[in-house]
Amino acid sequence: MSALAAQYKAINLGQGTPDFGMNEELIDLVSKAMRDGHNQYSHRNGLLSLREAIAEKVEFLYNNKVNPATEITITPGGTYAIYTALTAVLNPGDEVIVLEPAYDSYIPNIQVNGAIPVLIPLVYPDYKIDWDLIKEKISPATKMIMLNSPHNPTGRILDENDIAQLRNIVAGTGIFILSDEVYEHIIFDGRKHESILKYPDLFQRSFVTFSFGKVYHCTGWKTGYCIAPEPLMNEFLKVHQYNCFCTNSPFQYALADFIQNKDQYLGLGNFLQDKRDYFQNLMEHTMFKPFPSYGSYFQLYTYKGLSNESEIDFAKRLTIEAGVATIPVSAFYQKGLDNKVLRFCFAKKEETLKNAVERLINYENKK
Ligand SMILES: Cc1ncc(COP(=O)(O)O)c(C=O)c1O
Repeated sequence: MSALAAQYKAINLGQGTPDFGMNEELIDLVSKAMRDGHNQYSHRNGLLSLREAIAEKVEFLYNNKVNPATEITITPGGTYAIYTALTAVLNPGDEVIVLEPAYDSYIPNIQVNGAIPVLIPLVYPDYKIDWDLIKEKISPATKMIMLNSPHNPTGRILDENDIAQLRNIVAGTGIFILSDEVYEHIIFDGRKHESILKYPDLFQRSFVTFSFGKVYHCTGWKTGYCIAPEPLMNEFLKVHQYNCFCTNSPFQYALADFIQNKDQYLGLGNFLQDKRDYFQNLMEHTMFKPFPSYGSYFQLYTYKGLSNESEIDFAKRLTIEAGVATIPVSAFYQKGLDNKVLRFCFAKKEETLKNAVERLINYENKK
């Protein structure tokens, strides 16, 4: 959709990337780190001062004292951390429970390890997790359950009931958890992020993955980290050591400093909530109907009142004829389940959102 958006000069509300600038102070810190000569390989696990700062943050947010020496690894992005965690534990024939719609890297990353994704749909239209179905699909081959909260593409979040169900399902089994929490701070309306890090019994079987790109509006930095208990992290490091070995140094120096500023990440939820609301208010003037977004960069909208076309056809037409690119949610399902729903990214400047909605209104008026 991004290629099509570029071809037709459409406003791209498809791709999950902010179009506004990042914090200048953080940019200066990277420049300073480079000028100070921090341009050589870092420690394999990441710069110790950054790992220590992350450990402090995790204790502050989730009341979990993770060991920065043995339980945190800095990675070139969240996607890399996910791939590495999967590769660390999966053997051919293992099964992994994946909830659909799913972020695009999960399934190929499972399959490249010879393992089998066991696909469970979130229940439309609320996109709730069907824990009974998960229970049914657990088999002796189940090696892992993958979770993502706040969730891309639906904006759904895990709640206490989900955590209770998860605890119940994995108790007494050897099932691992991969919890993708790249949107941990992007959560709305006073809700709290249910990190797996809050639950010691769940954490002891988990890899929890994060992305600085999503926190500091610098997705192109591709810098993130994984937190896991020491025995799991040892396995993670065996893959990481011979894949990229370490993550770029100057960004780590800059982040070690900048992460101390709590206001930067604590304010992120409200900042993006305002964007969600701004966009949703404008969208009320169109025929698109919103689904609730509790977190992430995204909100789903149905176009049922507008067209009977498939999501892919409609999203293409909207890009070409209305000049607004979105992502068809069917793209997040292996079998292309089509509920006539599109994903909009609202992590954009107000002006971008306003122009995009004006284009949608003009398009509807012309039809
Ligand atoms: C659910 C989810 N996980 C992981 C990532 C990737 O993070 P990174 O850019 O740090 O690899 C994204 C990015 O869009 C995402 O939406």
